[in-house]
Amino acid sequence: MISNKNISCILAIETSCDETAAAVYSAEHGIESNVLFSQMELHAQYGGVVPEIASRWHINKIIPIIDQALKVANRSFDTIDAIAITNTPGLPGSLLVGLASAKALAYVYKKPLIAVNHLEGHIYSAHIENEIPFPYLCLAASGGHTSLYIVHSFYSYERIAKTVDDAAGEAFDKVAKLLQLGYPGGPIIESLAREEGFTDTRHYPRLKHTTLDFSFSGLKTAVLYDLVKMGCYSMQQKKLTVEHLSENERTDLNKTVSSSFLVCVGDIFAQRVAKSLALYPDIRAISFVGGVACNKYLQARIAAVAEKHSILAVKPSGQYCTDNAAMIAFVAYKKAQAGLFADLSLDI
Ligand code: KG4
Ligand code: ZN
Repeated sequence: MISNKNISCILAIETSCDETAAAVYSAEHGIESNVLFSQMELHAQYGGVVPEIASRWHINKIIPIIDQALKVANRSFDTIDAIAITNTPGLPGSLLVGLASAKALAYVYKKPLIAVNHLEGHIYSAHIENEIPFPYLCLAASGGHTSLYIVHSFYSYERIAKTVDDAAGEAFDKVAKLLQLGYPGGPIIESLAREEGFTDTRHYPRLKHTTLDFSFSGLKTAVLYDLVKMGCYSMQQKKLTVEHLSENERTDLNKTVSSSFLVCVGDIFAQRVAKSLALYPDIRAISFVGGVACNKYLQARIAAVAEKHSILAVKPSGQYCTDNAAMIAFVAYKKAQAGLFADLSLDI
């Protein structure tokens, strides 16, 4: 029988998408190491993550990354009490590499295994650096998910909204791909929008949902049709047609579309968050997490809604917004305290 009292230091592994990550968390020091190998550049030429390439690189990098996480924390397996692993959701081939490694380590070193849901990692990531009063509203926006949660405690949360089609990060990536700006789209679009002063000249539609749910595929299509209308995209050839533009005109196009798109996403986020606060009046704080939460403009939009309602707004620092193993280690520690362990039959 594993006693939760014996668990004070956890090694966590995260390989759900295109980051090979490992981290060490201890009750005494908090996050002791948080290292990762990002495959971003390897996927950039394809405009998105290629699952087969992702799993192959996880195999190449998993052992050096685990070694590095232990080295930075100045630890060996003697002082690690449990192995945590993200086992869902994610790319199957990627998850399997992490899971097989975690199981092998748990078996060889006779350590308990703790299974962590990747989304729970994102949801609770803001607690690593902040005290957040429960219950609070969490907006989680990444490349694969866009949801609103009411978080009641470390062990209880409910999803009150989801995306009915694309995730917000996916919309950033698709619009950037449409404009041939590169991957991942979020940071590029944010920097172009900043140069444009976050103005909204293209007025893309803000879909009015009767529920709190999100929808971003219509916004991406609105950008596409706008480019067609401006004579900058050919539906027949399915490609950008900007050869007739001067370099300045091309830059202007990128900036105006990026800025209008970002302001539109900001309006959608602010509207959904405000509506949630009206529906759930006992909410005491808002947290904004996931890769899209790296966006300073969107952070400011969420903070403005929180300020209007006189509640706290928090977000993790950048290293804990995008995929990382520190958030997995943190959730694993909470699970260990509650005696929630897995065994070697764990699957993805
Ligand atoms: O959480 P994450 O690292 O991976 C997933 O679990 O998906 O999120 C990656 C997503 C990408 O779609 C990327 O374009 C988006 O987060 N992202 C941003 C920004 N930085 C990353 N989106 C908007 N603005 C940013 N600054
Ligand atoms: Zn993620």
